[in-house]
Amino acid sequence: MMGKTMTNLLAWIDARFPLTKMWEEHLSKYYAPKNFNFWYFFGSLALLVLVIQIVTGIFLTMNYKPDAGLAFASVEYIMRDVNWGWLIRYMHSTGASAFFIVVYLHMFRGLMYGSYKTPRELIWIFGMFVYLALMAEAFMGYLLPWGQMSYWGAQVIISLFGAIPVVGDDLALWIRGDYVISDATLNRFFAFHVIAVPLVLIALVIAHIIALHEVGSNNPDGVDIKKLKDENGVPLDGIPFHPYYTVKDIVGVVVFLMFFSIVVFYIPEMGGYFLEHANFIPADPLKTPEHIAPVWYFTPYYAILRAVPDKFLGVVAMFAAIAVLFFLPWIDRSPVRSIRYRSTAYKVILTLFVISFLALGWLGMQPATPVLTMFARIFGAIYFGFFVALYFISKNEKTKPVPERVTMK
Ligand code: HEM
Repeated sequence: MMGKTMTNLLAWIDARFPLTKMWEEHLSKYYAPKNFNFWYFFGSLALLVLVIQIVTGIFLTMNYKPDAGLAFASVEYIMRDVNWGWLIRYMHSTGASAFFIVVYLHMFRGLMYGSYKTPRELIWIFGMFVYLALMAEAFMGYLLPWGQMSYWGAQVIISLFGAIPVVGDDLALWIRGDYVISDATLNRFFAFHVIAVPLVLIALVIAHIIALHEVGSNNPDGVDIKKLKDENGVPLDGIPFHPYYTVKDIVGVVVFLMFFSIVVFYIPEMGGYFLEHANFIPADPLKTPEHIAPVWYFTPYYAILRAVPDKFLGVVAMFAAIAVLFFLPWIDRSPVRSIRYRSTAYKVILTLFVISFLALGWLGMQPATPVLTMFARIFGAIYFGFFVALYFISKNEKTKPVPERVTMK
């Protein structure tokens, strides 16, 4: 009885809206390679964190006051007086760092398996725009608690725009809406953080997934599964996303939530990495903190910025470090996608790239002493050197033969 009603309801909807069609296209008849491994968890985890950030963000907004005179106290009010306010805030602050951890691992997977290569360039490009939007979102969100680091971090970053020749000072003024970071800045950052950037972010993520489903997922072997199909047109190495990968992704979600909960409930400040100590002091425009450092996910680029003696060139280098990633699909000219079948030279430069990124991340948190600055220059050179080396190495790379079918242990 119930079953028949449901079938009729579904038929009624399908005649008016492509519900079954969409379900099949993106889930039950979306054939994903059967050899996905650990690294393929992070796309769905990024989606999960996106949802966590939006939901907790909505609840934070119910009690937060975007006013320079009230913001800091309203956050303390959320922490002490609002029911479950502490949980909502710690989920949101931990979620910000979790987002970057997940996205960095997700991007690294793309590097390892050549997921940005033809025909997936647009998936990568949309991903890079997602990454930019994410950085803007995190940067503006960090001003909202109106602590010392919120204030001075924003001051440092916005003043960078002042280093741009001719238009710099006017640009910085235009971004702040004042001569210093002020209530006007806080209000506009609030508007961007709670609605403008999230809308862009969501639209980009949808575009990212539509592009993915248009060409189909890559896999750890970098094999094209669409080449070999059965009589019904189903790839021989493909399995329906639902139920196989929906169930597999739940495993990732459970493990992720275990780590996430440990941080939220026991170490929400993460020793000053997720919530910086100086941010428990209200913003004071008259008192510069002794040591200003951005949150960990920005520090690789911050280290590159500081490594260059000239301020403007430092800004250029910092933006170039991000921009160069957009061109990866064309910098890497190897005919082979996956690291499994690539040359030793490639594995060496990729390893050096990862080491330089981590080292720069650490250096960006330290005070810039002469010795550390020298190291930042060395690792900065390795960072950019990776792309140059990749361009040349990949041209006539000695690759291993790629199998016809995906491999499974
Ligand atoms: C909010 C952030 C993001 C979300 C929610 C997201 C979501 C997803 C999902 C669900 C998938 C399919 C599952 C998987 O392959 O893991 C995927 C694939 C992919 N994403 Fe993202 N992504 C995000 C950010 C990024 C960024 C920043 C990049 C790179 C710049 C990127 C590059 C890719 C690539 C290349 C693939 C295809 C991988 C393959 O088929 O091997 N994504 N993304």
